[in-house]
Amino acid sequence: MVKSATIPTHVGIIMDGNGRWAKKRLLPRVMGHREGVKTVKKITEFAAKIGIRYLSLFAFSTENWLRPQDEVSTLMDLLDEYIESEVELILSQGIKFVVSGDLGRIRESTRKKLNNLIEISRNNSGMVLNLALNYGGRDELIHAVKLIIDDYSKGLLSKDDIEKKFSLYLYNAEIPDIDLLIRTSGEIRISNFMLWRIAYSELYFTKVLWPDFNEDNFRDAIADYNKRIRRFGKTDEQIIGK
Ligand code: FPP
Repeated sequence: MVKSATIPTHVGIIMDGNGRWAKKRLLPRVMGHREGVKTVKKITEFAAKIGIRYLSLFAFSTENWLRPQDEVSTLMDLLDEYIESEVELILSQGIKFVVSGDLGRIRESTRKKLNNLIEISRNNSGMVLNLALNYGGRDELIHAVKLIIDDYSKGLLSKDDIEKKFSLYLYNAEIPDIDLLIRTSGEIRISNFMLWRIAYSELYFTKVLWPDFNEDNFRDAIADYNKRIRRFGKTDEQIIGK
């Protein structure tokens, strides 16, 4: 990657392919998730190192509860292990840890660990690591609309302000739109991820399975992002001044 490459401010990743990674090796699916957690750690550290300001990782969707019960509980166990083993890195790198999603359905012991990590990293000024857990894009929008209705009925918000202020009602309102959205494993879908914040994202799909995704693959995604002309609805001439 050329040194002067623009580093996207906010990168979102749909981490897909753990199951296939395991299947290829005749291993149980959960081994793929275990390997996937290792990639989460490596990629988080790398993202912070290269100056990404916000990293959003899709770890568990509102639909993932439909998976076999033993897979769901292994994912929750892995989440526990992950939190415990990441505390040091998060604190030493000054990372601010946040979660997007409805934690109400996450078991209490895990929720406490998550809340503790959120609390102790609250004042960190480094990269924001946003873990999407029991997260769904439509769910986030409905949640926002309900809050908007509350504020509207209390006279705290006017109809004319809704468009401008909508994003303030999303999970972690301080997190900006996603600049670069990466999905691994060859699937070309959004799968209900951060629907509001991907409106103008550059999309990057790679066949690499999440457990295999490494720094070089991440660099390739950023290099590709640097080739894109982000028009935001304008013309090329307006953007590059031809
Ligand atoms: C998709 O693989 C992966 C997920 C269910 C989400 C990502 C989960 C992890 C990286 C592990 C847990 C993360 C943390 C932070 C504890 P898949 O099972 O859908 O793969 P497949 O499509 O090949 O079956």
